[in-house]
Formats: sequence, structure tokens, C-alpha cells
Amino acid sequence: MAILIGSNKVRTAVFISGSGSNLKSLIKFSKTRQSPISVDLIISNNPKAKGLNYAKIFKIKKKVYNFKNKSLDESRLLSTLKRQKIDMICLAGFMKILTKNFIKKFKGKILNIHPSLLPKYKGLNTHQRALKNNEKYSGCTVHFVNSKLDSGKIIIQKKIKISKNDTKVSLARKILTQEHKIYPKAILKVFSL
Ligand code: GAR
Repeated sequence: MAILIGSNKVRTAVFISGSGSNLKSLIKFSKTRQSPISVDLIISNNPKAKGLNYAKIFKIKKKVYNFKNKSLDESRLLSTLKRQKIDMICLAGFMKILTKNFIKKFKGKILNIHPSLLPKYKGLNTHQRALKNNEKYSGCTVHFVNSKLDSGKIIIQKKIKISKNDTKVSLARKILTQEHKIYPKAILKVFSL
């Protein structure tokens, strides 16, 4: 990907829908010397997303688009991204599906984190499905976004053991802790490719 000169970091937007714990981990990472990215914009489809509070805490610009009229909101979003000179997008618990047209405009520059060992358990309710199938392991994956849901090239994965007592809540918690570690690692890997 881009070569970094001096302290010019790649201007990145993080898209969220909920609590934003991955957003927080990305912001913290972005402030380290080794980070190739800066987080300059937070986008949410949900005005009540808890993660939007990080905009205030870390003084980062935020915008909400509800995506009810997807094509209109995506074109507004594209204008905002252009105005803010955003060159990379990290989806972090963003629960809307972006159109092919949008993805094409940021080809190879959109990453997503997903709470399963892809290609297993694409889509929703990953933990519930893994437990129901008596899986021994689950985990999380960071991948490039292409036009097929949760199917782009895998950058990094972390496998974790499912224990007998795990519930969907305990499993989600265990996996989320690992997500916070692998998203920054995936970014470092992308920029060293
Ligand atoms: C994370 O577990 C993330 O992997 C998942 O939503 C959670 C968001 O948590 N994403 C998806 O399921 C996307 N299909 P966070 O808001 O605390 O980062």
C-alpha cells in the first residue's frame, strides 16, 4: 500500500454501529509512532451508537448517515470522505452492507473485522452458530472488503479455544479482546505488503 514519508499518516475513517471498542483500540494504535494510519473521521449509521462518544473524547470528526436511502447516503458519504481526504476505511462493527459501487471507489482500501474464523460463519450471530455446531475453536478475522459479504482476502486471523462453559456472551467477550489486538496487527501487515 502507500509509502509513508515523514509523519504523514494515511487518513482513515472508521465505520461503526455500536459500542465501538474496536474503534477505541484503533484510535489508541493510531497515536503510536509505529502506526501508519491516523483516525480522522468516525462514521455511524446509528445515531445512538455508544462508540460515537469517542469522537468527543478524542476530538475526532463524526458523521451519522442512517442508510435508509442507501444510494443517497452513500453519495453524501463519498463527498464527506473526499472532503476529509480519507484514503482508507476500517469497518469496526459496522452492520450495514456497502454497495458494490461504493466498494469500487475504495478498492483495496477497506478493511473489516469479523468475529469468526472466516470462511466459516459469515454474516450474523457467529458465536451462537459456532456453539450450536459444537465447534472446538472460534476466533476473529481481519480481511479486505470486496463485493461479497465477508469474503475478501484474509489478512490475519486469531484462533481461540471454545471451552465447555462458554456462552455466546463469554465467547463474544473472549473474541473481542483478541479483535482489539489483531486489527492493529492487520494494519501493520497491510502497510508492509
Ligand atoms: C465486533 O465483535 C465485530 O467483530 C463485530 O461486531 C462487534 C463490534 O464490537 N462485527 C460484525 O459482526 C460485522 N459483521 P465493537 O463495536 O465493540 O467494536
